[in-house]
Amino acid sequence: MDEVDMELEKAFQSKIDAELKIEPKDWMPDAYRKTLVRQMSQHAHSEVVGMLPEGNWLTRAPSLKRKAILMAKIQDEGGHGLYLYSAAETLGVSRDEMYEQLHSGKAKYSSIFNYPTLNWADIGAIGWLVDGAAITNQIALCRCSYGPYARAMVKVCKEESFHQRQGYEIMMNMSNGTKEQKEMAQDAINRWWWPALMMFGPHDKNSDHTSQSMTWKIKRTSNDELRQRFVDATVPQADYLGLTVPDDKLAWNEETQSYDWGEIDWDEFRNVVAGNGLCNRERLQTRRDAHDGGKWVRDAALAYAEKQKKRMADKAA
Ligand code: 3HC
Repeated sequence: MDEVDMELEKAFQSKIDAELKIEPKDWMPDAYRKTLVRQMSQHAHSEVVGMLPEGNWLTRAPSLKRKAILMAKIQDEGGHGLYLYSAAETLGVSRDEMYEQLHSGKAKYSSIFNYPTLNWADIGAIGWLVDGAAITNQIALCRCSYGPYARAMVKVCKEESFHQRQGYEIMMNMSNGTKEQKEMAQDAINRWWWPALMMFGPHDKNSDHTSQSMTWKIKRTSNDELRQRFVDATVPQADYLGLTVPDDKLAWNEETQSYDWGEIDWDEFRNVVAGNGLCNRERLQTRRDAHDGGKWVRDAALAYAEKQKKRMADKAA
C-alpha cells in the first residue's frame, strides 16, 4: 500500500473511531466496501427468501385477522429486502448483480429460511424466535459505521418489533389453547430454537469476518454476545408460555447473571449453509421462478422510463 493510501486509510479509521458515519461518496478501503456489499446483499436476500416459509401459510391462516397480520408482515419483509438492496447499491453493486448471485447459489441467505413451516404454530415461532433474533442483531446494526445501512435498520427494527409481538401472541394463544394446540406450540419451539441460534453466525473464534467488522464498526457486538443476549431475553418468554426450551443443559447462572446452555449442532449449520437443508433447493427455485415470472413487469417499467426520458428530451429540444 503506498503512502497516500496509508494516509487515506488512517483518516478513514479515525473517522470510524470518532463515531462518524461513512457515506457513499466518502473514500473507503475496497475491503470495507466489499464486506458491506457481501453482508448487506445477503441480508437483503434473507429478507426476500424469508417471505417464502410464511407465504406458505397465507391461504391457511386460521382467521381473516391472522391472514391480514401475516400479509402485512410478509409485505414488510419484502420492503426490508428492497430497502437493503437499495442501500447496497450505494456501494456500486447493481440490483441485477445481487439477484444473479442469489439465483445462481453464489450468495448466502440466512440458513433459518431453509426449514419447512409444518403448521400454524411455526408462524408463531418464526415471528417470536426468528424475528426476535433478527431484532437482537439489527438493533446493533442501527449503529453500524456505514450511514445508509444504519439508517435503513431504524425503520426495519420498528417493523420487526411488530413481527416479533404478533408471533409471540400466536404462541401465547396456542400455549393457552387446547392440549393439541399447546403440543403444536411445543413442537414448534423444538424445531425452531436451535436454527434460530444459528442465525447469529459461527462462534466468534470461528468467524471469518467478526474481528475486522468490529474494527470497522460494521459489527458493534460479536456473534456470541448477541446470541447470548437473545437466549437471556427469550428463555423467560418461553417460561411464561409454559413451553420447554429444547436444551437439557440450559440453566440460570447466578454468577454471570445469564443462562448457560448447550452446543449448537455446527454440522447441521454447515450442511444447511452449504445448500443441503430441507428447503434450500425449493426456496431458490421459487425465487428464480418469481424473478423470471416478473420479467414482463421490469421490461414494462424500463420501457415506460425510456419513453418518459425521450419525451423529456424532445420537450427540451
Ligand atoms: N446463514 C447463512 N450463512 C451464515 C449464517 C447463517 N445463519 N451465519 C453466518 N453465515 C455465513 C456468513 O455470511 C459468512 O459467509 P460469507 O463470508 O460467505 O458471507 C460465514 O458464514 C462466516 O460468518 P461470519 O460470522 O464470519 O460472517 P458475518 O460477519 O457476516 O456475520 C451475520 C454473519 C451475523 C449473519 C452478519 O452477516 C449479519 O449481521 N448480517 C446482517 C443480518 C442478517 O443478515 N440477518 C439474517 C436474517 S434477516 C431476517 O431474519 C429478517 C427477518 O425479517 C425475518
